Amino acid sequence: MNIPDELIQALQQTARVTVMTGAGISQESGIPTFRDAMEGLWAKYDPAELATPEAFERDPERVTRWYDERRMKCLSARPNAGHHALARMESAFQDRGDYFVLITQNIDGLHRSAGSRDVIELHGSIRRWRCVACNRARDEDGGLFETYPPRCECGGMRRPDVVWFGEFLPEAAVRRATAASLSCNLFLSVGTSGVVYPAADLLNTAKVAGAKIVEVNPEPTPASAFADWMLPGRAGDVLPKLAEITERKRM
Ligand code: APR
Repeated sequence: MNIPDELIQALQQTARVTVMTGAGISQESGIPTFRDAMEGLWAKYDPAELATPEAFERDPERVTRWYDERRMKCLSARPNAGHHALARMESAFQDRGDYFVLITQNIDGLHRSAGSRDVIELHGSIRRWRCVACNRARDEDGGLFETYPPRCECGGMRRPDVVWFGEFLPEAAVRRATAASLSCNLFLSVGTSGVVYPAADLLNTAKVAGAKIVEVNPEPTPASAFADWMLPGRAGDVLPKLAEITERKRM
């Protein structure tokens, strides 16, 4: 696939880039999307029975077991060429003193594993668990928990530090993501259907503020209509090309 000249120029001259990623970028690492993950033993459940505060209250054992199994999948997954390319772009932009912000809707932690230093995790992280009683949170990088729900030292139940349906997004993350969308002049939307709040809002914010919009997705999405450049393809194929163009500027 050819990258349009205007986009090459924008990547090399634009000082402010904001990237937003969704489930599509992690698909190539074997992380099933939420809906695809409802398989095997879990096929009989509705996401609303597992990913809501009410479900946790009703059956904390089942909900934490499900999330712990997903945590294991995320820990054993490896970041792919798309994740690595974004980490390279972050370095290239920062090295030349330019602004680069990465926002993700994914909870799998793969951007950090790939070396991205500054990641705004809008939906939290499945690797971090917190106590519902005392709020203490820590990363969990080891094997499966021994009991469900896992317990805090204070005796409280622990839950994954992710945003469930019906919960608010972390305020500081939303504030930073909105500011990044307002102040960028190139906004990349990667592997997201862009329909779920806040993805659509962030893209609109960037568009209205005058940024050029780039979409990387093998399929058209509702956001494609707003895109200045639609790059049809998989994140793992397209992003390394964009990273290479960005890095070429440094030479
Ligand atoms: N590279 C790039 N894009 C891809 C790839 C790939 N290899 N494979 C699939 N896609 C695209 C699909 O075409 C689709 O547009 O990724 C998008 C995934 O869309 P969703 O599954 O809706 O994921 P996302 O946009 O992250 O969903 C947002 O909804 O289910 C909730 O909380 C969940 O964070 C999630 C939110």
